[in-house]
Amino acid sequence: SQTRIAVIVGSLRKDSFNQKLALALAHLAPSDFTFEHLRIDDLPLYNQDDDGNQAPSVKRLKTEIAAAQGLLFVTPEYNRSLPGVLKNAIDHASRPYGQSAWAGKPAGVLGISVGAIGTALAQQHLRNVLAYLDVPTLGQPEVFLQAKDGLFDDKGHIGSEGTKKFLQSWMDKYAAWIKSHAAA
Ligand code: FNR
Repeated sequence: SQTRIAVIVGSLRKDSFNQKLALALAHLAPSDFTFEHLRIDDLPLYNQDDDGNQAPSVKRLKTEIAAAQGLLFVTPEYNRSLPGVLKNAIDHASRPYGQSAWAGKPAGVLGISVGAIGTALAQQHLRNVLAYLDVPTLGQPEVFLQAKDGLFDDKGHIGSEGTKKFLQSWMDKYAAWIKSHAAA
């Protein structure tokens, strides 16, 4: 049977490195894994007044999360934290109180930035939020990537051999970890 992964990319930019990284990662996954990219650009700004009457885009997001066996967060770092658009999506799907879509879904957290620390602080802040939401995150290996020419080839695969080997080791660990959660 298929293992469904819900992918949440923290950038809405058309040529997003993080979007490219998320797509490239899927090529490294076992063949029984499917990756569904969740749309977050059409969500309203979160307003607690709407908890009893969530927008169709919010209900869709929650349904897609519920259908997944695992989560994959691939995010840039904005001003040393996670982007507001990502936090907005997380807040939406955490509500109404007691009906969070996130609880218990195992997650991988990765990111790529133009800066040398490769989203380390954004990931740390995101892990903090996910811990509160009862989302277990894969601890190691950590993936902090810096965008460099040649990282992606013209097919959108990882172009650098060293990085590809490293990301393959990440994916192997992630896939086994997701399966162990699904079996539990
Ligand atoms: C950035 N960028 C950035 N980079 C970083 O390493 N640490 C940071 O704190 C920030 N802060 C930041 C704030 C804002 C508002 C923007 C627009 C950008 C640069 C960031 O790494 C770069 O724009 C990436 O290309 C963003 O990822 P995507 O959109 O390519 O996935």
